[in-house]
Amino acid sequence: MSDEERVNDEGANEPENAETPLVLPGPPEEPQAEADDAEDGDTRPSPTVEAAVEPVVESAVEPIVEPAVEPVVESPAEPVTAAPAAPAEIDIPIPTVARPPLIAGNWKMNLDHLQAIAHVQKVAWSLKDVKHDFADVEVAVFPPFTDLRSVQTLLSADKLALRLGAQDVSPQGPGAFTGDIAAAFLAKLDVRYVIVGHSERRQGHGESSETVAAKAAAASAAGMVPVICVGETAEDLEAQGAAAVPLAQLEAALAGLPTGSEYVVAYEPVWAIGSGDPASPEQAQEVCRALRRRIAELRGPAEAAAIRLLYGGSVASQNIAGFMRQPDVDGALIGGASLDAAEFTRIVQFRKHVTA
Ligand code: 13P
Repeated sequence: MSDEERVNDEGANEPENAETPLVLPGPPEEPQAEADDAEDGDTRPSPTVEAAVEPVVESAVEPIVEPAVEPVVESPAEPVTAAPAAPAEIDIPIPTVARPPLIAGNWKMNLDHLQAIAHVQKVAWSLKDVKHDFADVEVAVFPPFTDLRSVQTLLSADKLALRLGAQDVSPQGPGAFTGDIAAAFLAKLDVRYVIVGHSERRQGHGESSETVAAKAAAASAAGMVPVICVGETAEDLEAQGAAAVPLAQLEAALAGLPTGSEYVVAYEPVWAIGSGDPASPEQAQEVCRALRRRIAELRGPAEAAAIRLLYGGSVASQNIAGFMRQPDVDGALIGGASLDAAEFTRIVQFRKHVTA
């Protein structure tokens, strides 16, 4: 398929409404984005940070003055030396901006290309059945590399509004790198999102933060949106609290990305992945809030306001609503449950659960 045959054009819809209390503490009463303003039918979030930002309204902002997080586990033997870095916090107001939710299915190493076609068809039919509004909630699938061409062809031929994502990318350009996949190859397949730094690659393949940063930069330079995964292990959680490692991983990953480039951050506590034991919505919110504040410190409030933060780790239709109610959680990265078309559809339809 040629580039011209992409399912959607490259126009961007700017989030317009400012009804979302992004950083208000305490239990939020409403889903963070009621994006009912996307009448143009474009499912895509704004790629430009500046366009998404609205003037700062005093009542809608929150000063960044507190330490990022407290440890969730009441460990009596908390090492003093491992305390999360708590540099002087800067009071940076973050504008209130509506961010289009993103529900992303990371298939991991599941489904060959024929199974992939059948699965995407099922997901597409299922979402059509429930009249899913892709402008309201963006949906992406991340098949294995060998499936990408088949899925791309299907999305293009059937004009499906599902986004295509890849699970990894080489930090290198094309060349003598046996077994690697260059960002340019993915971009050519209409890949919109690229996962970088998933814990299964950090741990299983020894990927350093520098490598993750280089991958994010490579994806971004090729015109795609890196989905930067961060998350603490159970040991990290006990020793340093929930946010210290995710914050450090985020900071490292952003090092190679030009300010203003679009990216997504997925907070995936390693202990929650595939365990059936998700983080609590409150913990997800706490860490996502800390991540957003760190982005504000590092890259400015406009970028912090526009960047979407996902939660991942044992997300299912029964628990998605709790996460999506959190003001700093803008979507979910879903593993196991994304392989079941009916369950994935129920997750995508989270607004029904949120309001129920
Ligand atoms: P599970 O949803 O299977 O826990 O996996 C989460 C994940 O790792 C998504 O990237």
